[in-house]
This record gives sequence, C-alpha cells and structure tokens, in this order.
Amino acid sequence: MSDWVGVILAAGEGRRMNSKTPKVLHRVCGKSMIAHAVHGLRQAGVERVFVVLSPHNIEAVRDTLGDEAEYVTQPQPLGTGHAVMRCAGQVVTPDANVLVTMGDAPLIRPDTFSGLMGRHVESRASLTLLSARGSEQQDLGKVLRDNNGSVRGIVEAADAEGRELGDEVNAGTYCFDGSWLTENVGRIPASSNGEYYLTWLVEAAASQGNTIETVETENAEEIMGVNDRISMAAASTAMRRRIAEKWMRAGVTIIDPASTYIDADVVIGQDSVIHPDSHLQAGTAIGEDCVIGPGALIRASVIGHRCRVLLSVVVESTLEDDVDVGPYSHLRPGCRVEVGAHVGNFVEVKASRLGRGVKLGHFGYVGDTEVGENANLGAGLVTCNFDGARKHKTKIGEDAFIGSDTMLVAPVSVGKGAATGAGAVVNKDVPPYRLAVGVPAKIIERSPDKAADNAT
Ligand code: UD1
Ligand code: MG
Repeated sequence: MSDWVGVILAAGEGRRMNSKTPKVLHRVCGKSMIAHAVHGLRQAGVERVFVVLSPHNIEAVRDTLGDEAEYVTQPQPLGTGHAVMRCAGQVVTPDANVLVTMGDAPLIRPDTFSGLMGRHVESRASLTLLSARGSEQQDLGKVLRDNNGSVRGIVEAADAEGRELGDEVNAGTYCFDGSWLTENVGRIPASSNGEYYLTWLVEAAASQGNTIETVETENAEEIMGVNDRISMAAASTAMRRRIAEKWMRAGVTIIDPASTYIDADVVIGQDSVIHPDSHLQAGTAIGEDCVIGPGALIRASVIGHRCRVLLSVVVESTLEDDVDVGPYSHLRPGCRVEVGAHVGNFVEVKASRLGRGVKLGHFGYVGDTEVGENANLGAGLVTCNFDGARKHKTKIGEDAFIGSDTMLVAPVSVGKGAATGAGAVVNKDVPPYRLAVGVPAKIIERSPDKAADNAT
C-alpha cells in the first residue's frame, strides 16, 4: 500500500458557532474537535496528517496540537475545494493516497477511516467517499445517484430544494488517488457564491466515467458535522453515550449514562461504580472498585483502587488506594492523599500531602501543608498560610492530634505525636510530643499516654 496522507480541513470561519474561539477548538467530551480528527486518522494508520488552517486560527490550533500535525494555510476561506487546492504539490502528490476529512466531524471512528481506506485501495477508485443514511442533520450535502445507482455528484443542502434526492448524505470524508487529485483539484470552478466546493470533484470523477466507491457508515450519527452549538451539543451527547458504553463493556457500572459525563481520554478500572451527576474530566484515571458520585467532579486526577468520592470536587490531585472524600469537599490542585486517608465533610485542601491514614473529617482549610501518617486533624482546623503578602508552609508530624478549631499560623510545624488544644492559635513550632494550648498557644507537656493514644 502506498503511503497515506491525511488532510483535515479546518480553515473555515465557523461563523455559525458565533464564538471568539475557532470552531475546531471547541471541545466535545473534553477534547477539541480537531484533536479528535487528528487522533482518529493516526489510529487508522495515516502516517502524515496535515491540517488546513486560516491565518486567524492557525496560532491557536498550533498551540493546542503542537507537532501532532503539520500545517497548511488557506489565506481566505474560499471553500472546501480551495482548501484542498492549497495542499496541491507539497502535500497532495501523485504517488500518495490522500484521505480528506473535515475538522468539524469529531465522531468518525478510526475503524471507519481505515475501512474507507481499505476499500479505496482494493477498488483502485479515483475517489471513495463516506456516506450515511438516516441522518437527522438537515444541513449536509446529499449524494446524487443515477438510475443504475452510480454516484453522479453531491448536492448541497442549500441547493437541494425541490429536487428528488434520496436520504444518503455526504460525510465530507473522502479518499483520493493522488495522481487523479493532483490533475483535477485545480480544475474546481468557483460556484455562484464564489466558493470552490470540494464536492465538485465527485461530479467530475463521475463525468469522466471513473468509478466512485462509497462506504456507508452503520450509524448516521457518526458523520455528524458540528456547524453550530446545537449540533455540537448533539455530538457531545452522542459521544458521551459511546464513551459510557465503552466503559460499561469494560466492566464499569454506570448507573445513569445520560447524566454521567466522562471525557474521551479518561480511564476507569473494573468494577468501579459511577453514580449520576458525575463529571470525570480530561486527564483522569480511576482505579478498580471505586464508588464515584453522585455529584463528583474529578479533573486531571489519579484515583487509586477502592476510593470513594461523594459530592466533591477533586482537581489535579492524586488519591492513593482506599481514600474517601466527601460529602462536600474540595481538593484543589497539588494534593496527594495517601493510602487509607479520610477527607470528610466541608473540607478544602490545596497543595498538600496527607499521609497514610490521616483523618480530616469535618470542615476546615488545609493549604501548603505536609501531614504525617495517622495524624488526626480536628473539626475546624485552619492552616493560616497567607500573611497578606506571601504563602507559608505548615508541617504536621505523624500521629499528631490537632484539636478542634485550631489555627496553625504558618510558617509553623507541629512535631510528631504533639497535640493542640481546642481553639489554640499556634504561631510557634510545637516540639514532638508536646501540647500547645491557648491564644496565642503556650507549649506544655503532653501526657505520654495521650500521645500514645493518638495512633489508635
Ligand atoms: C461540507 C460539505 C457537505 C458535507 C458536510 C459534512 C462541501 C461544499 N460541503 O459542508 O457536502 O455534507 O461538509 O460535514 O464541501 N473549511 C476550510 N476552508 C474553507 C471552508 C471550509 O478549511 O474555505 C473547513 C471548515 O473549517 C470545516 C470543513 O472545511 O472544518 C467543512 O466546512 P463547512 O463550512 O462546515 O462545510 P459544510 O457546510 O458542513
Ligand atoms: Mg460542517
């Protein structure tokens, strides 16, 4: 098989989105539409992927995709045909097989791309196009066939009025023989509105008497093109269902897929249960036997095995195995909660490490803090980490016992096995196994029995 070159058209203005953000950078299930297309082509085995962009969106798209793709510019949005003309010579060459797809069709599966490529190679057609039947989308081009069933052309939705056309629609994804495309792409005429339609090539191939192969998708939903925010919501719903089904097949229980929002790149372990109103966002990996939700939002975080996250938010953090969080807590970026630790109700934790078995059961704020194993942090603990100008660190040793309503005024440390009394305002370090009481706290002896009790 000769080499495959992929061309993704993404230079259109996307005006129907009515957005400051380029259309193809809008996200569907946590991933930009353009990244869906690039990854789809790569997984289908396309070696080189080129994205056609406009001077207005190239910078932003390049920032997102980096070297995952190569770039071609189309100075003015003169139509899909014009976008492919821009590739002639450098990208589209006579010895390549060229797959062209649209940057706004994020639901096309890698298997569908590779099926289309396979059929194209087998049939040696000049052009093989992807079509679908039964689509509910009104603004797609229709495939025009003659009485023998041969493809004659594509009729855009705007030009279809009053014409007898079947229900077969054009996905906007095609495989071309490189030498045929090289010869013909420059011949695309401007249409009455000044645009050069790529679809004209279908008509051209037919009138030259060439075979035009078609591959029909099993499911019309797959070729959905996102042109406005309404079709984007529909595409998100479809992809969400697809993602949920993938995880259910892999052994994850999803109580209500319709109210569960799992981004495209999330990973979930076997026998985990995801309850409704949960959002598992990009960059998240969940272990086995977890119970997530109801009402969890987890972003860019690693969750170990057998964890529970109930009605809580976890962002850019790591929970080791057997951790439980919530209800109503918020782990902000940079937290590491070690094996068996417990973060209960109404707690905010930021950039902190909670050692194994730490208990932080009831309302409080812990920021920029290191907490040693098995420390018990009482209700209402506040680490006062900000002095109005700078952030400071707090250290709490293993087996420490922090009394309710303690203020730890950072920078400060509480030693191993030390304790604070209820309501203490601690602004000096507490040595190991001592007790800090009062406002401001005084350091006194701590009964050795009490210190030993903590660990239990
Ligand atoms: C196009 C097809 C239509 C097909 C549909 C599938 C044409 C003329 N029509 O219509 O038959 O059913 O896709 O979704 O091809 N683009 C450029 N440069 C341009 C114009 C567009 O790169 O000058 C890019 C856009 O960024 C977009 C893609 O091409 O990613 C498709 O453009 P769009 O305007 O959405 O075409 P459709 O009206 O959807
Ligand atoms: Mg479109």
